[in-house]
Amino acid sequence: MIPIAVPLLADEEADAARAAVLSGWVSQGPQVAAFEREFAALVGAPFACAVSNCTTALQIALAALDIGIGDEVITVSHSFIATANCIRNQGAVPVFVDIEPETYNIDPRRLAEAITPSTRAIIAVHQMGMPCDLTALTALAEQYGIALIEDAACAAGSQIQVNGHWERIGKPHGRIACFSFHPRKVITTGEGGMLTTADAVLDQKFRLLRHHGMSVPDTARHDSPRVIFEQYLVPGYNFRMTDIQAAIGRKQLQRLPELVARRRAVAANYDGLLANFSGLRIPKEPEWARSNWQSYCVRLPDHLDQRRVMQHLLDRGIATRRGIMCSHREPPYISPNQRHDLRQSEIAQDHALLIPIYAQMSENDIHLVLEALRAEFAR
Ligand SMILES: Cc1ncc(COP(=O)(O)O)c(C=O)c1O
Repeated sequence: MIPIAVPLLADEEADAARAAVLSGWVSQGPQVAAFEREFAALVGAPFACAVSNCTTALQIALAALDIGIGDEVITVSHSFIATANCIRNQGAVPVFVDIEPETYNIDPRRLAEAITPSTRAIIAVHQMGMPCDLTALTALAEQYGIALIEDAACAAGSQIQVNGHWERIGKPHGRIACFSFHPRKVITTGEGGMLTTADAVLDQKFRLLRHHGMSVPDTARHDSPRVIFEQYLVPGYNFRMTDIQAAIGRKQLQRLPELVARRRAVAANYDGLLANFSGLRIPKEPEWARSNWQSYCVRLPDHLDQRRVMQHLLDRGIATRRGIMCSHREPPYISPNQRHDLRQSEIAQDHALLIPIYAQMSENDIHLVLEALRAEFAR
């Protein structure tokens, strides 16, 4: 069986988790603080705040910006449903705009026409690790005075060229960037998330919100020689990461450059081998973007039925996934009044196919995927 993804976890991660357990401090503590420092340094962000997953990161991002009832947030329908849910759960309205067919990312040209007096923020998704056009998006956000939040769930290790320099996603280019460490991502802590920002006030709000709005962290109370009475300053949440997860995350972070390099090699291999499959569209990086290749997404030619191709590949032991879901087609978001044309999003969901990619993929694995696809094209 060739799975769609395999995390690379080894003795280093197991030893780190064991050490965290044996330290006696397993909830949010020194390992989380160290993971935050190391993540911030790696991506070039002034502040990084660890949380329980990317869904809660997005929720906190909106809450910290005081986005709520009556506000509109522009985003893509073509994303994992958490992107839309965090807006709805905050009491705001998600306004969906279409994607560019080449990158599967928000189309900046369509964004301006979606802005209304109620628009407070844009959530731009770096879908499947492919960076969005942040140069265009930051300019628009600035022009209209709205916040840009990056849903970087899939984008740890991706890079973008800004003013001639290559920078990691998370630097952050918008106000806030949110990451996921789910096992389907390039690095994992089992479940986990991170917010980065350049804004010290926002970072303080994240820390309050993730910890019940509590005025002092547990570590400060624990270490203090004097009695401290805490206060609960805002209605917060329990969105904390554990020290066991953070200890694993620190080891994963050390592997990140190597993991991305290996994925890029697999993607380059696929690019070459799939180039002459008639009618198959392979993914392409804009010249200003370097994907971490969290996923490798091909567009099937119209004559091939997506579900049948997926079933035939599964019968041969090869797992695939259909194109990224569209939230506007799911019950909470189905509406006869979608404001904007979402045709490219629907085409991508119905005709795209995610094929296996992971750092440890062997030449033989790639060959098996290729042979299975070749058989579909020969049918
Ligand atoms: C684009 C996007 N946003 C948000 C999430 C939610 O991440 P998590 O599972 O860490 O909550 C995902 C997860 O797949 C995602 O792909």
